[in-house]
Amino acid sequence: MLRSVFLAAAGSSRMERLISSAPVSKGVVRRFVAGAGVDDALRASRELADDGLAISLDYLGEDTLTAEQATATRDQYLTLLGRLSGAGLTPAAEVSVKLSALGQKVDDRMAFGYAQEICAAAAAAGTTVTLDAEDHTTTDSTLEILAELRKDHPGTGAVLQAYLRRTEGDCRELATTGSRVRLCKGAYAEPESVAYQSALDVDKAYVRCLNILMSGDGYPMIATHDPRLIAIAEDRARWFDRSADEFEFQMLYGVRPEEQARLAAAGHTVRVYVPYGDQWYGYLMRRLAERPANVAFFGRALTSK
Ligand code: FDA
Repeated sequence: MLRSVFLAAAGSSRMERLISSAPVSKGVVRRFVAGAGVDDALRASRELADDGLAISLDYLGEDTLTAEQATATRDQYLTLLGRLSGAGLTPAAEVSVKLSALGQKVDDRMAFGYAQEICAAAAAAGTTVTLDAEDHTTTDSTLEILAELRKDHPGTGAVLQAYLRRTEGDCRELATTGSRVRLCKGAYAEPESVAYQSALDVDKAYVRCLNILMSGDGYPMIATHDPRLIAIAEDRARWFDRSADEFEFQMLYGVRPEEQARLAAAGHTVRVYVPYGDQWYGYLMRRLAERPANVAFFGRALTSK
């Protein structure tokens, strides 16, 4: 119930104006977002790298409606990759890109062209790009663009959402040599026709997808904070004889940092997804939708002012 309220709010421009302008939001945002600019992104990356963690940086923004905005987003990524390389933060840090921020919903060829430029800049900086997964209406286009990008940049990563009924099939397609696949539960409001609705069904689907990826030939990136799924992934790594450099765990900035440290200390690669920029509204609403404790945190911040 709460989940659907926050996911509906994520798409409301009226709520966005209201919440983005509330001074109290700043404190909450700071917990989940590294800051507004490239300097903040670099500072957070340096701190994580010093703690032995890998990084995937996301310049916040989605559902871009104009070519100008899409071009500005591409420019942000090109600047970021140059700065990461200059600061010696590659290959520890890679970037995550939302194709909708590059104008996918306006002109998917433009989004492809910009993504290709970002992949080339990442390669020059000695690192990689992962394409985030967005709502299900974009999945076909995103996976088609991924396949095109991988012709020149085979290390380009995909994100698959376990809640989508189609995803087991997509896992089979992508569990191939050289392919990097981030498996997450999925963060958007999706209809029953395309997505499992109950938490139990999503968890079961996650484990089926995990089995396909861990037994396949690609590089699985296990994106979850769920202790049961993390334990199952560790078990599957042993079962399928995967060494520490043949898969990785991924978590979000500000979520379960002590678990990130524990897994890294146990010898696993742990990559932290670090969002930055001022377009944090949709991202924050999805985090609030995921966890009642995050809402309580938001509520406490509201009432303490
Ligand atoms: P879930 O939120 O169901 O939590 C399960 C359990 O984990 C909880 O019951 C609790 O035990 C524990 N837990 C969770 N948060 C905790 C906290 N703050 N403190 C303590 N315990 C906590 N989605 C998408 O649609 N497209 C994408 O491209 C991405 N990309 C992405 C990258 C990375 C690196 C991550 C980690 C996640 C994404 N996601 C995503 C988001 C993803 O789909 C999902 O919404 C969130 O990760 C939340 O799901 P969990 O698997 O963490 O479990």
